[in-house]
Amino acid sequence: MKRPVGILTGGGDCPGLNAVIRAVVRRAALDSVPILGIKRGWDGLRDGDFSPLTRTSVAGILTRGGTILGTSRTNPLADPDALNKIRRNFEESEMEGLIVVGGNGTLAAAREMWHRHKMPVVGVPKTIDNDLRGTDMTFGFDTAVSIATDAIDRLHTTAESHDRVMILEVMGRMVGWIAATAGIAGGADIVLVPEKPFKMSEIVRLIEARRKRKLTFSIIVVAEAARPHEDEDFLSDETKEMLYNERNLGGIGRQLAREIEKRTSIETRVTVLGYTQRGGSPTPFDRVLATRYGIGAMELVLTEQWGQMVAIHGPKITSVSLDEATQGPKELDPDLYRAAEVFFG
Ligand code: F6P
Repeated sequence: MKRPVGILTGGGDCPGLNAVIRAVVRRAALDSVPILGIKRGWDGLRDGDFSPLTRTSVAGILTRGGTILGTSRTNPLADPDALNKIRRNFEESEMEGLIVVGGNGTLAAAREMWHRHKMPVVGVPKTIDNDLRGTDMTFGFDTAVSIATDAIDRLHTTAESHDRVMILEVMGRMVGWIAATAGIAGGADIVLVPEKPFKMSEIVRLIEARRKRKLTFSIIVVAEAARPHEDEDFLSDETKEMLYNERNLGGIGRQLAREIEKRTSIETRVTVLGYTQRGGSPTPFDRVLATRYGIGAMELVLTEQWGQMVAIHGPKITSVSLDEATQGPKELDPDLYRAAEVFFG
């Protein structure tokens, strides 16, 4: 019998994780390679909490959100004792290699496990934020955009009925991919992203220009890490510390609403989309992408291309090194933001 391959999912969950797991198991079965499902990210490897995944155990999970393996944000390198247990369990289980499905944090840890500890790993790019380098797109992003776009569509009708400014705060960590893409798809009047600090005077100008054109409502999409330009900063240091705490981002929408009401006297309401963006069933696009990533990752394992991450470039599934993929968050494409800007005001 061939040696087993492990798979773990780490970091925030994301629609499409189960589609990756299913595809890995199904592709591995073609070469009679057993798969071990590791529970709760690196924690499961530390605790020896893993068990075989079979065609039967992954049946019916393609469309399910979340991850059947569970997840955690544990960094395997943070605690030497945990690291030793991880290495020992990996060796004793005689795993051939490990497929790590994760975002920037989890894959940076996988990179170090490969370079520093010679653990044979292959990465799969997961995150609704689309902020991983070396690939055109991460799985989960399309689902988040579709949920945010649906929210913008719904906000439009109520904004129009009440002549209000409606703010939609979306996720995205330190980048504006979800905000800009959903903003374009939903026809937002203003989109604010971390890559381009905003000026309140410009926001007020755009809202008032719409009023003059008898458009009595406005839709603003704001990314959770968007911030005011230093020339027009209206947030106290204390507020900024609260809003831009990387472990728990959020709250800029409410601050923005208060400021708009103060400056325009127009009723302004906020919707924080939060975790609905990463819950539930993946879109068809994400199901296909995640499935192709799962197959691609297993094929990297079969050809022993350790330290690589499966990627998509144009229509093709390829791979890049984990080094290249984890050189800091991939910022929003400025061309995409320029497309959103055409429709401002
Ligand atoms: O990276 C995905 C993401 O959902 C971000 O968009 C968000 O800032 C963060 O995770 C929230 O993380 P947590 O699950 O730790 O609250």
